Amino acid sequence: MAMDAFSASLMKDKREIVIAPTIYKFETFGDFAGEFKLGERDVVLTNEFIYKPFMAELGLKSQFVFQEKFGAGEPSEAMIETMYEAIPYDSYDRVIAVGGGAIMDLCKLLGCKRPASVHELYFKREPVVHEKEVIAIPTTCGTGSEVTNISVAIVKDEKDGKLTGGETKLGLVSDDIIPNKVCLVPDLLKTLPYKPFAASAIDALIHATESFLSPHRKTVTSEMFSVKAMEMILEGFRRIALEGPDARIDYLGEFVTASLFAGIAFLKAGCATVHGMSFPLGGTYHVPHGESNYALFSKILELYDEYEPAGELGKFKEIVARCLGCTKDDALRTLNVTLEKVLPLKPLHEYGFKEEDIKSFPLSVEANQQRLITNSYRPWSIELSERVYRECF
Ligand SMILES: [Fe+2]
Repeated sequence: MAMDAFSASLMKDKREIVIAPTIYKFETFGDFAGEFKLGERDVVLTNEFIYKPFMAELGLKSQFVFQEKFGAGEPSEAMIETMYEAIPYDSYDRVIAVGGGAIMDLCKLLGCKRPASVHELYFKREPVVHEKEVIAIPTTCGTGSEVTNISVAIVKDEKDGKLTGGETKLGLVSDDIIPNKVCLVPDLLKTLPYKPFAASAIDALIHATESFLSPHRKTVTSEMFSVKAMEMILEGFRRIALEGPDARIDYLGEFVTASLFAGIAFLKAGCATVHGMSFPLGGTYHVPHGESNYALFSKILELYDEYEPAGELGKFKEIVARCLGCTKDDALRTLNVTLEKVLPLKPLHEYGFKEEDIKSFPLSVEANQQRLITNSYRPWSIELSERVYRECF
């Protein structure tokens, strides 16, 4: 099929790399709050389980808001509307986001003028106007959202301009929503439970991998960030596979830095098929983002390997072999074995995925995820999507 205009414009982007925010690193949240002089006109969007151990005792005068007040899980149209009501636009000058991917994505919206309709905003029928400074502090090592220009939400699905009754995930994309500053505080990751840690770290590895394999959009500079991110994450996974989950604790600084590097890489080079196919899964069955990507990752790599085992995929296998201590021919299998030790892989049906979805999801991917599918390592098709969903079922 013909490429959509937005994907075509991404292909023409001549920028070698985009690192919009200034990046800081602090030992503790208190160090950050002192340096940035947090005060009354700052709204801090976070979770209560982060606030209590790291912020409560500081006695700051800022407006603290907990994301869970707006509903559980990933951002949705309803959640965003509730958030807008809870945080009046004239009540703050600066947005501080301390949390995982959902909080990162929500804070990007808080930095922008309020749209008349969240739905219209995500379907690109309302403009994005950034007005307030946004400071992003990631507390998972995954999304890389702190450096990217995308805010993802679960929205009411449309086909030919009409609501279908279903839901899907869509990314609102604009360079204006990239946070102005990023602060890395590895200390904040210490209380993150193991499972979300593991899923988000796998998501970061997938960002680095998809950017590395990006056939049209990667540059020498984005590749440098991809490779460094992959090396750091694979080394962390090698340690966890060998010594167990606690091995991550001394390595959290590397994980949070690697996921930032992966975010820088994919802002330029793009994510691809794994993310494109994972979006309807997350949208329909509310599978956590890292897990839905993970469920599809190795099958999609297998199909890439079947199509063109040399080229960039060959280089990817060399990196995996070097980091995990195996041969290049055994790299994809060793990667799967290592990931299985980091987080057991589940078939799609365990997330609620139904047999009829094998036929319907590829159509949603084709209709709504062109931005990602056009970035596939091999030319993609509805038939290949069906094959992946069927074999992961
Ligand atoms: Fe992701």
